[in-house]
Amino acid sequence: MATSIWARKPIAALLADGDNPDGLKRSLGAADLVMLAIGAVIGAGIFGSIGSAAAGQVDAAGHVIRVGAGPALVISFILLGACCALAGLCYAELASMIPQAGSAYAYSYATLGEIVGWIIGWDLILEYAVGNVAVAISWGDYFKSLFAGWVDFPFWLTNGYRTALLSSDPKIHGMIEQAPHVLGIPILVNVPAFAIVMFITWLLLRGARESARANNIMVAVKLVVLALFLVAGAMHIDKANYHPFAPNGFKGIHQGAAIVFFAYIGFDAISTAAEETKNPQRNLPIGILGGLAICTIIYILVGYVLTGMVPYSELGRAADPLAYALNRTGLQAIAKIVALGAVFSMAAVLLVFQYGQPRIFFAMARDGLLPKWAARVSGKHHVPHVATLFTGIFVALWSLVGDAGETYDLTNIGTLFAFMLVCIGVIVLRYTDPDRKRPFRVPFVHFVGIAGAALCAFVMKGLPQQAWERFGIWLAIGLVLYFVYGYKNSTLRKGTGSVNMLDYPPEQH
Ligand code: ALA
Repeated sequence: MATSIWARKPIAALLADGDNPDGLKRSLGAADLVMLAIGAVIGAGIFGSIGSAAAGQVDAAGHVIRVGAGPALVISFILLGACCALAGLCYAELASMIPQAGSAYAYSYATLGEIVGWIIGWDLILEYAVGNVAVAISWGDYFKSLFAGWVDFPFWLTNGYRTALLSSDPKIHGMIEQAPHVLGIPILVNVPAFAIVMFITWLLLRGARESARANNIMVAVKLVVLALFLVAGAMHIDKANYHPFAPNGFKGIHQGAAIVFFAYIGFDAISTAAEETKNPQRNLPIGILGGLAICTIIYILVGYVLTGMVPYSELGRAADPLAYALNRTGLQAIAKIVALGAVFSMAAVLLVFQYGQPRIFFAMARDGLLPKWAARVSGKHHVPHVATLFTGIFVALWSLVGDAGETYDLTNIGTLFAFMLVCIGVIVLRYTDPDRKRPFRVPFVHFVGIAGAALCAFVMKGLPQQAWERFGIWLAIGLVLYFVYGYKNSTLRKGTGSVNMLDYPPEQH
């Protein structure tokens, strides 16, 4: 019996988990995966956070949280494209080798041991569930702006408690006073954010295939809308806006990259579809790298056009910088269409992340690190229905009262940490399991793995102090939970897994 918290799950056991005929159903092809990747990637980051990345950000008291990149934002995008491509290559090798629903959680479990696997599984909640809280709230904001002028939604039903409380605007504080109170506490709830999360959850409960179809439609809409923005915006570029090109030097490019990294998150999420993918060895690398390449090109173009349309310093003013730039250059009708596109884009992001999170819970529960109910798969639609519903309720309730700004940085730091460990894990596995078939091999693996991990660490360094503190607290809570529950219930450590772990002695350390 493996007793160490560093015990590594044998890859053969991971693969056997995925081959379980009572498990998830393989129905997704390469094109579906590229579409899922684009669906996960293009969203709140490019439609929303791009503004503060270009212009910088100050807190309620006027203190600078970070400086902006200015038009040099295109360099931030290139830097992030390189960082994500390196991490993406490592994801592709591990995902094609270990096509299993747990994504980075499963890879770390196999390469770096149970305790690291648990930490990454716990950390991925920041990427998937907490990231979706930010996207859902941002979706709610775009939803409101889409109807602005036609419908006057009550403030207390469309703004979460945290968002209202954190505002420095005296008008908002007046609105808080007017909200209904229960036991002296103002009732401030973001109903649109809550409703979209519950709608997406319902869609997912109907099964992966139907959900992928809905995603394909949403992705098509977002690509058309961004193409419209690029064509219309390119005709209104004022070259004077490109001077100064990098107003805050490399510091601005670095800190800008640390926020807008949010725009890249998601290409890795499709690795959680590994057990529902046909021929995953071929299709996963195509999905991950293809989706990433398309998104990087689009971002560089959007960054270039946007900072050419208006002075960069204005871009932090609006929650909707693309629509702001279009309005500012007199393209009001196109601005409304782009706002509509943003609503579709963010719904697609929500879909992929709400799809990914339950599959990570599912994989962790199957390993005994979470309660067994999270690993239940519905007989009718072959989806992990209990974990899907649990994730939906968790994200919806947080979105109802939370603030988007508070969750962006936390999501970024958690995701970069996971990427870093994946980059390291791919090298470790080349030594610990050199003979295993690798349908996709990272070229120059030492360079790619080390440079990828170093670039992720570098981008993390651009995040504010508060993000580091909150991340530390999150990991500490995770460790306590591991020793209270997972340590005692791990099927690998108890030797009660779905396959006989003792069949694979060389990998049990
Ligand atoms: N990349 C995703 C977005 O920007 C998370 O919304």
